[in-house]
Amino acid sequence: MTEARPAATPDPSPGDGPGIHHWPVDDLPGITIDPLLTRLLRTEPVARIKLRFGEGHSWLATRYEDVKDVSSDPRLSRAATLERPVTSMTPHRVGLPGAVGRTDPPEHTRLRRLVSRSFNRKRVEGMRARAQAIADRQLDLMEEQGPPADLTAHLTGPLPTEVISVLMGVPREDWERVHAWREVVLSTSHPREESDAVKAEIGKYFAALARRRAAAPEDDLYSELATAHAEGRLSIEELVSLAVIIQLNAMDAVPNITSSMVYTLLTHPGQTALLRADPSLVPKAVEELFRFVPLRNGVGQPRIATEEIRVGDVTVPAGDAVHVSYIAANRDPSVFSDPDRLDLTRDAEAPHLAFGHGAHYCVGAALSTMQAEVMISTLVRRMPGLRLAVPPEEVPWRRGTLNRGPESLPVAW
Ligand code: HEM
Repeated sequence: MTEARPAATPDPSPGDGPGIHHWPVDDLPGITIDPLLTRLLRTEPVARIKLRFGEGHSWLATRYEDVKDVSSDPRLSRAATLERPVTSMTPHRVGLPGAVGRTDPPEHTRLRRLVSRSFNRKRVEGMRARAQAIADRQLDLMEEQGPPADLTAHLTGPLPTEVISVLMGVPREDWERVHAWREVVLSTSHPREESDAVKAEIGKYFAALARRRAAAPEDDLYSELATAHAEGRLSIEELVSLAVIIQLNAMDAVPNITSSMVYTLLTHPGQTALLRADPSLVPKAVEELFRFVPLRNGVGQPRIATEEIRVGDVTVPAGDAVHVSYIAANRDPSVFSDPDRLDLTRDAEAPHLAFGHGAHYCVGAALSTMQAEVMISTLVRRMPGLRLAVPPEEVPWRRGTLNRGPESLPVAW
């Protein structure tokens, strides 16, 4: 157990020019919302920010409607970010060459089509029984070991790793190696040379797996992608990059956010009691948890304005970079009443934006929701006495990473 960290609350100093907010994006404890986001949402909904790396500044939209407008406006380009060293949270570029998040139509549409079928609701529902079996097996093991136990090691880590690896077709003996890569690629603290070396290694691994699957296809997504590559519908760079983004996101985002969800439930006992009294609330509760729990540090990938555009009350010149914060938008008081209150029975006024919006909406949204529902409903049903085994402020949180979440989650029952 690591000691509790002091609350790192960045208080951005004035930046290069008037009104540019320097945003170091320090590690934050627990599930607190970055104070800069809270402030901008209320006082300067379209602001200029400067992050730790990269060049220049970008615009940041925090209000729900502005965030939706920006993320669905075709005049804002992701591909244009490839040519520009935009202000950034990491010393390295997060996506690999050919990354789906950095393409525009028609390339973007083609790449999405190749994978969207594998993650549609019907396919995802087909995986629910398997996810349930994994949850039950993992909790059997945890019960055998007895309290206290680390829930991230027993449930919220292993379940998403197994689910995505089975869907993708990554052999079991490689899971640990692939898992270790995520630490470097999705980090804000590893030097560029190290992440470049790891990316080269990942590239080789997935290219070799593609050759094996193209030669002897199996019933998994990787075989489908390898076939598309063999038929000339997908370049090797695009194939590797798609595989990596899907595999690493699924192994990182789902464990982190579901661990944070359980932490949130265990630190809101009144709300959790409602769930235990009526487990049919789980799907609604999970939606509210996605709205409430901040997964990422800082901001995601920017877009570039290909012409002058209006965002809220601000005119953004052509060529400028624009970020959005889906996390801030999920707390917009003009959309969600009492937005900073967790209310598992909330009839939300609007859908949450935790999975983004528009053309780049998360490919794995249905898969992630299904896994969160399985884990939370199983904990509610099997462990009515589940509680933190340490005071909340002693739960250790990950540092220097893009995605936030508990390092470990010690529980008893
Ligand atoms: C609960 C966990 C997850 C959350 C909160 C999440 C959230 C997001 C967000 C906010 C975006 C970016 C939207 C944008 O660029 O504007 C995104 C994109 C993406 N996510 Fe997820 N994600 C999660 C899990 C997953 C999983 C399990 C997969 C794999 C199946 C996945 C695959 C992707 C891909 C491929 C993209 C890029 C889509 C594109 O650019 O068209 N994510 N996700």
